[in-house]
Amino acid sequence: MVFYFTATGNSLYVAKHLDTELISIPQEMNKTDRHYKADKIGIVCPLFELDLPDFIKDFIRSSTFETEYFYIIVTYGMHHGGVAERAQEFLESIGKKADYINTIIMLDNAIIVFDMEQQKLLEPEKKVDEHIAMLKADIDACKHEIQFAAEEEKTFYQGFMKMTEEYGRMYSFPLYGVTDACVGCGTCTRVCPRGCIRVENSRPVYDYTHCVNCMACAHACPQNAIKLVCVKEPNPNARYRNPNISLAEIIQANQQK
Ligand SMILES: Cc1cc2nc3c(=O)[nH]c(=O)nc-3n(C[C@H](O)[C@H](O)[C@H](O)COP(=O)(O)O)c2cc1C
Repeated sequence: MVFYFTATGNSLYVAKHLDTELISIPQEMNKTDRHYKADKIGIVCPLFELDLPDFIKDFIRSSTFETEYFYIIVTYGMHHGGVAERAQEFLESIGKKADYINTIIMLDNAIIVFDMEQQKLLEPEKKVDEHIAMLKADIDACKHEIQFAAEEEKTFYQGFMKMTEEYGRMYSFPLYGVTDACVGCGTCTRVCPRGCIRVENSRPVYDYTHCVNCMACAHACPQNAIKLVCVKEPNPNARYRNPNISLAEIIQANQQK
């Protein structure tokens, strides 16, 4: 049993290799009774600002997992900042514990910082499939390991925290603006994992109350009509979806029923 969250397909791609029973966290969050039982239970999600996304923490905090083996895999694009050790600290702070926590480097989908066209060029050297095979072998063998945070990653994390303290977060709400290229197709409403977008008069309208800044809407828009307005994007025309994952799968993963 693997619980996953994905904005652009990377985490779903990994989850699909680890198990056949895949459960969407954004959809599961709508249930009140969240007690799960399986021999192995995993969580696969992206890294947000060097940490587990807050709503993934909420999901873990408010669910019970009855299992012999609990693991977390975090997909990221550039620096994981030693997230595995901090994720274990988080789990311990809520009376839980993982047997295995690891990360996997993939394409970085943060359009706030990166040009997706340049990111796509870096993808082959990240050797994603090779790394997935290693994770799978570890999990199949029920390996016990919390990824060690190298000094370089710890330093990166400290630098990031200091910068955030001094200058605040990189983004602010409202995050997105919609250009005249929008045809009101509603894809953005369907890929939003938090149900933040509705279509009114053939245009998306955002309610940021529960927005987690995942950028699924901007990446999935077939017209590329959703742009960041809180910062100047490095390349507002470049968008990404994991090449092995379809738009229908992102919708299936995130659509709020
Ligand atoms: C809001 C946001 C914050 C992110 N923060 C980080 C980060 O701190 N470090 C990093 O290496 N990648 C970061 N990323 C990149 C994603 O973690 C990475 O591309 C991930 O594989 C996306 O997974 P998905 O396709 O399943 O959504 C961030 C992406 C977003 C949207």
